[in-house]
Amino acid sequence: MSTDSASIDTASTDTSSADATSSHDGAASSLTIRDNRTGAEYDVPVVDGTVRAADLAKIKAADDGTGIAVYDPGFVNTASCRSSITFIDGDKGVLEYRGYPIEQLAEHSTYLEVAYLLIHGELPNQQQCQAWEHQITFHTFVHENVKGFMEGFRYDAHPMGMLLASVGALSTFYPESRNISDEHVRNMQVIRMIAKMPTLGAWAFRHAQGKPYIYPDNDLGYAANFLSMLFKMSEQRFEADPRLEKALEVLFILHADHEQNCSTNAVRSVGSSQDPYSAIAAGIGALFGPLHGGANEAVLKMLRRIGSVDQVPDFIEGVKNSNERLMGFGHRVYKNYDPRAKIIKKATDDVFEVTGVNPLLKIAVELEKIALEDEYFVSRKLYPNVDFYSGLIYEALSFPPEMFTVLFAIPRTSGWLAQWLELVDDPEQKIARPKQIYTGARTRDYLPRDQRWSA
Ligand code: CMC
Repeated sequence: MSTDSASIDTASTDTSSADATSSHDGAASSLTIRDNRTGAEYDVPVVDGTVRAADLAKIKAADDGTGIAVYDPGFVNTASCRSSITFIDGDKGVLEYRGYPIEQLAEHSTYLEVAYLLIHGELPNQQQCQAWEHQITFHTFVHENVKGFMEGFRYDAHPMGMLLASVGALSTFYPESRNISDEHVRNMQVIRMIAKMPTLGAWAFRHAQGKPYIYPDNDLGYAANFLSMLFKMSEQRFEADPRLEKALEVLFILHADHEQNCSTNAVRSVGSSQDPYSAIAAGIGALFGPLHGGANEAVLKMLRRIGSVDQVPDFIEGVKNSNERLMGFGHRVYKNYDPRAKIIKKATDDVFEVTGVNPLLKIAVELEKIALEDEYFVSRKLYPNVDFYSGLIYEALSFPPEMFTVLFAIPRTSGWLAQWLELVDDPEQKIARPKQIYTGARTRDYLPRDQRWSA
């Protein structure tokens, strides 16, 4: 073994041991690391299947060294927090919010009840539920000036860009929101953001269509009010088909949280510097990209590009040759199936019963069939994820692809906020500040411009 290496052995009896030491005695449920550079051995406690990176920092080759750090681009094997909000078992395809299986919540609950569960840890009783729904409903309006600046966006502005900017701007309307040590202040921002997100999302949609923005209707439920702000024209009251309203509720529940994904990590990271609106705006920014929430928009565009079922084999070959990526497939955590995709597939049937079948469905089904049998996808454990079918539903509901990620961001807001509250309450959390391995030049003398330009 090279002198620049460490060898690792695990001892696992039961409870955790003391700090990392340079001796090897008495460790239970610990990792023994031998530093081959120095010959020293360290017992590092293993708790909940993890070692503390700070314990590794004690492993030093020289007294003035900074110790061993963990190099983990993309946080593939790094836990950044302890959380009691969402549980995922990627191998078994299990997703639970606060211990409740997603299948049961999607079947029996409402989005606002699930949002309450994520934020408060328990499902609400009748009184709590009514108070919660009342509070959310009566904070759906935004300051009239918000409308003014949203109108200032160009006619073809992407609605996610509009949502991101307007949520960031909300912080200027609630300067007290930075007083995050006050529990009442924190709770007010939670209510405001969950309540106002559909208003901002619907207005971004109306903006692209050149239609007047519709104010919230406080007599309607969360999903029904959102549909009204999206689609109401001159009628007294917009009546959504209850089956579509239910489908939207289910989609909102499925998207409400997903533990430490890219956008949640962004929320926690920005939230660690303590401004809640900037944190949620950061989450929206992270969600925007095609490898995360933007995948549903990318799936629809991909299906349109494929065009017909007979083109599917060619497209699959392109994916296998790395010329294409099968959007809506694959997941960092799910290596068996994504339980949300199963529920969405069922919801597509309910929606298509009302709207008629989306012709792109045939292409999607054929893609899924071929991919699930093909060695390339099977060996890499690539299965349809939540975004594979959601875009088809959204399109059937008359949304343009640019709106799809907005429809993800609105319900994810409750999960982001639950994670932010957990962060604020966690005494172990600090401002996020990863390390780097510096690979650039060192200590060079500055060359004045005249010397550089003449050289
Ligand atoms: N199409 C083709 N090949 C793929 C795909 C795909 N969709 N996803 C992964 N692979 C291949 C990848 O090329 C790699 O192959 P190889 O080992 O030969 O290099 C292998 O599978 C492992 O992939 P990875 O990129 O290391 O996996 P990851 O965990 O870093 O990425 C992912 C996960 C979701 C970003 C990725 O699967 C992907 O890009 N999927 C398409 C985009 C998508 O649907 N995103 C939505 C995710 S679910 C909702 C959400 O999080 O917002």
